[in-house]
Amino acid sequence: LNKKKTIDERLLKICELLEASINYYNWVGFYFKNGDKEELKLGPYVGAPTDHTIIPFGKGICGQVAVSNQNFVVPDVAAQDNYIACSITVKAEIVIPIFVNGENIGQIDIDSNTPDPFTEADERFLEFVCKKVSEML
Ligand code: SME
Repeated sequence: LNKKKTIDERLLKICELLEASINYYNWVGFYFKNGDKEELKLGPYVGAPTDHTIIPFGKGICGQVAVSNQNFVVPDVAAQDNYIACSITVKAEIVIPIFVNGENIGQIDIDSNTPDPFTEADERFLEFVCKKVSEML
């Protein structure tokens, strides 16, 4: 049994369930620290394919979360200057870090085509999802 494949399959299922269950979750994916490099690598996702499969730490919303270790809720992506556009339909974004033994090892990234859709309930819910993910890695 290939353990890595099984984890990726489970992560993809989580993306599929989130995208299908919540109407303002339009792109759902995981980024993980790429080995020892100061960059993120795209993992399982659902939604429009993106060219941004590698994101340097500090770049875009995702890269900023890789260094801040904090949730990042963006109600209006057009108001951000350090933002990487993956699709012109995207209006808002939320990124929640994933911690293993206190270390920020990746994140869940969700794009919305709805302006300002994310509340603290989304943050609490996605923190829970990220904790469950960290326990299966
Ligand atoms: N918008 C992200 C890039 C990843 S795409 O949303 C899939 C960012 O600014 O980091």
